[in-house]
Amino acid sequence: MIDRIASVPDMASRSKGLSQNGKSIGFVPTMGALHEGHLSLVRRSVSENDVTVVSIFINPTQFAPSEDLDKYPRDIDGDLEKLDSVGSVIAFIPSIDEIYPEGYRTYVNVEGITEVMCGEFRPGHFKGVTTVVAKLFNIVRPDRAYFGQKDFQQAVVIRKMAADLDTGIDIVLCPTVREEDGLAMSSRNQYLSSEERKAASVIYRSMFETSEMLRSGSLMAGDARGYLVKKLRANKMVGEVQYASIYDPVTFEEIRGEGAEEMLIAVALYIGGTRLIDNMLLKLG
Ligand code: PAJ
Repeated sequence: MIDRIASVPDMASRSKGLSQNGKSIGFVPTMGALHEGHLSLVRRSVSENDVTVVSIFINPTQFAPSEDLDKYPRDIDGDLEKLDSVGSVIAFIPSIDEIYPEGYRTYVNVEGITEVMCGEFRPGHFKGVTTVVAKLFNIVRPDRAYFGQKDFQQAVVIRKMAADLDTGIDIVLCPTVREEDGLAMSSRNQYLSSEERKAASVIYRSMFETSEMLRSGSLMAGDARGYLVKKLRANKMVGEVQYASIYDPVTFEEIRGEGAEEMLIAVALYIGGTRLIDNMLLKLG
């Protein structure tokens, strides 16, 4: 059964009541157009908490004016049906005015780790993400919040914010759910034509081959960037490659030379007009 809440005070008082009754609250923030990736987070939360809150809010402050805010996919009825099939959850679906009323002025920013990788190509994006997630955390007051590895940098940034602001919220990182050919599920995959969709599998394949080469020792971390970019560019449908390299998964500094025990292979590129991101964690030793 889905319980739908639209107002901030209603959501806040519901959460307060639940906590006062000793119920644990799991929280899954989303922008809707839900797919199996989102639903895997919801299932995990349902299994680990007494009550699960799923927010659906397309957050304007994390989109640059040139980005896809207006055409971002919206399907609230479909989303509610999908949530209903998972179990009993509270769907928090506020309006833009509810979250950013006239005269809104406060922003939350995590320094450093938001300025590289996606942050370099989407200035201000993470500031919008941390602002809305901080607000949602204050409204929902969850015990645990669930994020996908698909957006690894986002999850790390939010974990840092949650710790730095002493929220006490446990940030749970969940594995990336993929299509059969390896493409990470994403609401933005809907933008791809069938030809582009086929080409998009090059991202996972290239990361996987790079990780296998690193694992076997036949590729040095310092050479991995060149190898990965070449694999990606071999597909003629691939447009701008914004970044494709090997990073330290804590600092997001690029790894050169020898490599490390834990490495993050991460990619952001365009196929046609669609920006896709993906990543893979590699543990050696
Ligand atoms: P959205 O893109 O809707 O994603 C919501 C959550 O689902 C994020 O934690 C994301 O990492 C996770 N997710 C998306 N695709 C996934 C996949 N294939 N496998 C596993 N998890 C996946 O990320 C956002 O919304 C927004 O930035 C938000 C955090 C809601 C703030 O506005």
